[in-house]
Amino acid sequence: MKIISVVGARPNFMKIAPFMAAIEAHNRKNHQPIQHMLVHTGQHYDDQMSRAFFNALDITDADINLGVGSGSHAEQVGRTMIEFEKVLCRETPDWVVVVGDVNATCACSITAKKEQVKCAHIEAGLRSGDMTMPEEINRLVTDRLSDLLFAPDRFSVENLRKEGVAEERIHFVGNIMIDTLEAQIDKAGRLDPCQTVSSAMRDKQGELSPEQKRSLHNGQIALMTLHRPSNVDDPKILTPIIEFLKNEVCRDLLLLWPAHPRAMQRIQEFNLWKGIIDNPNFILLNPLGYHELLSLNRHASIMLTDSGGLQEECCVLGTPCLTLRCNTERPVTLITNGGASVLVGNNIDRIRDEYQTIRTMKRNPTRPELWDGKTAGRIVDILTTIR
Ligand code: UD1
Repeated sequence: MKIISVVGARPNFMKIAPFMAAIEAHNRKNHQPIQHMLVHTGQHYDDQMSRAFFNALDITDADINLGVGSGSHAEQVGRTMIEFEKVLCRETPDWVVVVGDVNATCACSITAKKEQVKCAHIEAGLRSGDMTMPEEINRLVTDRLSDLLFAPDRFSVENLRKEGVAEERIHFVGNIMIDTLEAQIDKAGRLDPCQTVSSAMRDKQGELSPEQKRSLHNGQIALMTLHRPSNVDDPKILTPIIEFLKNEVCRDLLLLWPAHPRAMQRIQEFNLWKGIIDNPNFILLNPLGYHELLSLNRHASIMLTDSGGLQEECCVLGTPCLTLRCNTERPVTLITNGGASVLVGNNIDRIRDEYQTIRTMKRNPTRPELWDGKTAGRIVDILTTIR
């Protein structure tokens, strides 16, 4: 059997690493090895957004990089399809495996089906119901086309059933990101948070003060990631968020923000940079590696994020999490469903209210069903036995 799996952007890398490890484990035990090729579409290309994750998670280099780079959605999807079609014609795989909900996921599932190659989607069935999110469009298209749908939780299984997907296409396998978390948590635990922060600080002149070091050691940290266009692209939304953080969160906690390139561009464009770096309790960081972010998440008192993956990691680590979105495709992570996160959108009054509630909450780690670190093995077993 020949499988081509696809990655394109940062959140894909921690989903493909366990899948590739499970293929290797399968091949060590079996006479009929799986022939596997990894295609990187090149959507994320900076070392900190891509190469660093390959190195940290021991992912071998991609066999093929399509080099699509940045651009509008149509440009990214279009360029990916044109280049991926050539790969499929040349390599004639039995399966294309796509993960998550980025443009690479959608583009390669369409290309696979047009070339009549079977397609499997890892992380199928997530639905936010929000058609303004490019990821929701990617999820709907990918799930509609894929032959095998690997769902991470029971909510996702139900979403697929409600859409009329045939039972034999749906497989509830658990969350593959948690395989990576399980495999890497000990290594992350050995990192020193002060070292992590001082080597990623944007303001290279700056050294950590004794007060900042104390906050880091005591876990008096708020960790934040914010990169969605709906939060960072409009100054009328981003500026009040930054003001709230500076004036209220930074009074209580040391705020660490590893900023995505998109957010960093906006901070500069909207003249927010100086106000941030002048505040001693607000530390802007370069994008962090997998272990570094996991390590800080384990230490943090609270998380503020608009990332789906971090909502899931907070659920398992128990970090109280304010999710700066009005909806989520991951309801299993919400406090109301036993998780650690609460939706606050980007309205400051709502963020303030929930911040006051969660900042005194204790960590409450929980494990949704089958988030047990064994998801990738289940997926490979299904792929190799399915007729
Ligand atoms: C993409 C995903 C999003 C995911 C996010 C994680 C889609 C539709 N969106 O959004 O679901 O949460 O990745 O990061 O696929 N840039 C760089 N260097 C890079 C990559 C991007 O500087 O290596 C800058 C470019 O200015 C680019 C911008 O970031 O235009 C946005 O990148 P893009 O890949 O278009 O989308 P993300 O916002 O990263």
